Formats: sequence, C-alpha cells, structure tokens
Amino acid sequence: DWTPANIVEDSVAAIREQVGDARVLCALSGGVDSAVAAALVQRAIGDQLTCVFVDHGLLRAGEAEQVERDFVAATGVDLKVSDATDRFLDALAGVSDPETKRKIIGREFIRTFEAAAREVAADGGVDFLVQGTLYPDVVESGGGEGAANIKSHHNVGGLPDDLEFTLIEPLRTLFKDEVRAVGEELGLPPAMVWRQPFPGPGLAIRIVGEVTRDRLELLRAADAIAREELTRAGLDREVWQFPVVLLADVRSVGVQGDGRTYGHPVVLRPVSSEDAMTADWSRLPHELLERISTRITNEVPEVNRVVLDVTSKPPGTIEWE
Ligand code: XMP
Repeated sequence: DWTPANIVEDSVAAIREQVGDARVLCALSGGVDSAVAAALVQRAIGDQLTCVFVDHGLLRAGEAEQVERDFVAATGVDLKVSDATDRFLDALAGVSDPETKRKIIGREFIRTFEAAAREVAADGGVDFLVQGTLYPDVVESGGGEGAANIKSHHNVGGLPDDLEFTLIEPLRTLFKDEVRAVGEELGLPPAMVWRQPFPGPGLAIRIVGEVTRDRLELLRAADAIAREELTRAGLDREVWQFPVVLLADVRSVGVQGDGRTYGHPVVLRPVSSEDAMTADWSRLPHELLERISTRITNEVPEVNRVVLDVTSKPPGTIEWE
C-alpha cells in the first residue's frame, strides 16, 4: 500500500539498516528534495545527521529563514549554517557573463561546503552523504551510469579524496509529487514543500549584468511581490516557475508624480511546464498582472517598468541566463 506514511516507515527502516551508528552529512539548499531527504534521514537516525546550509546570499526573500528557522523547528535537525554571502559576492564582482557566474558559484559552493564538512568531520568521521536524487534523475542517467548512480565511496561532485562518502538517496524511487506528499507527512513547512523549482545559482542568473548587493535587494523586493500576489490569486501551484528578472544594465524613462524617472525594468517570466525541458508562457489574468505591476513600481523605487515575457521554450529558455 503506497501511502506517504508507508513510504516514510519503509525509508526510515532502510536508512537505519544502511547507516547503523555512523555519522551522516547533508547539504540543504532550501529546495524541496534536499529538505525531504534530510527530514527522512533525521526521522531515522536523529542527531547522527548533521545538515549544512551554505547561504550564498543569492536566495529569495525569506528562504534562508525558511531553512534556518522553520525547517529546524519542524524537524529538530542539527544544522550548521555557513554564511558565505561576502565570499560569493566578492567572487562575483565585475562578472556579467552567465556561464562564468555559474562556474564561480559552483566552485565557491564546493569550497564552502567542503570547509563545513571538514569541521563536522573533525569531531568524529562522517561516512555517509545524503542526496535528494529523484527517480526521474535515476532514469535520465541510465539507471546504471552517471551522476545518480550509487557507488560505494563515491567521490561526490568534485570533493577531494579525503572527503569520501557513501551516498544515501532516500528519494531514489520517488516522483516529485510523492516527495511532496512525504514532505507533508513529515510536517515540513508548506512553503518549502510546495516551492517551485529554483536554480542553484539563485538570483545571480536573474540579474542580467553584474551581481551587486543593491541589485539583489531590489530584485528580492520585486520577486517577493510577484510571488505574494501569485499565491494570493491561488495560482502558485499551477504555475511551474515564476522568475522575475532584473535588467540591471537597462534604463528607461518614466514619470512619477511631478518628476521624470530613469529606472530599471523587471521582466515577469511565468511559465507552465511538465519537466522544464519545454515550457509555455503562462496566461496569467490581466488583473493579477496589473496588481503586480502597480505594486512593484510603487514599492520598489528603482523600478519604473514591468514587462511580460511571452516566449515559449524553445526558442527561449525559462531563465534569462
Ligand atoms: P532553462 O533556463 O534552461 O532552465 O530553461 C530549465 C530549468 O533548470 C533550472 N536552471 C538551473 N538549475 N542550476 C540549477 O540548479 C542552474 O545553473 C540552472 N539553470 C537553469 C531553471 O530554473 C529551470 O527550472
């Protein structure tokens, strides 16, 4: 009988058997998969698990708090937070090229995680690493080959040889909707369980141009308004993703009150999709678009224009970078 409660029960038993009394590490990203995987392992082995959250400073409003406060409150997990915002922003300074941004963020993430992992391992070895691999990832990589394959003492994602772990992948047989059901069963915050997909490099690839603190703050404010209004309209579970993109190097003339403005545009990019390989632009109600536009231009002073992306994928991608 395939219920969330049964999945939890079976996984817990399997994890206990696999791990014994060894210590386990997990990287939390703020996303659904790593959160549910970590919560399952925590349910199975309690404080033998330590989670590491690398805060790269590129998450949306409220997301770091969701991990640090709400997730911890819901699970009682032992969490180590690595606030690496300065490090990431320093590394990104002066960089506009999308692929260079991704490379820098990937590199800094590994370095930061590695340092945190070493600290955790310093008081007793860590044998296992939790990964939120889902069934579609397993199938996509051929089931036997590739990144999602379980190898004993697999060297994960560019970590050095002295940090070797055996992978625990408790979501390996599950689809996304099952993962969400398990997350609800485990009492995780709904905002986390129902979060739309969000790219690892975060808001850095939604700022077209250089990433700075001010630009991040501005984009965070606009994005929070768009998400809030989408949720209020009851459409957040229907829309696959809703990127808000800041065209940081573009300015246009506007008028507000008695004065001329010269501000930045933000792009709304709501899409519907099944698997992110293809996508269509979402036909959001005009009243909702109007509310989002009015609020962003009123509440975010540097933004004087809100535009809608009506491109499908292909030829567009979901993200702008
Ligand atoms: P595109 O923009 O290629 O995105 O249509 C397809 C899906 O992948 C996400 N995405 C990323 N996820 N690292 C990630 O973890 C990345 O560098 C990255 N780039 C795009 C995107 O949000 C969408 O869900």
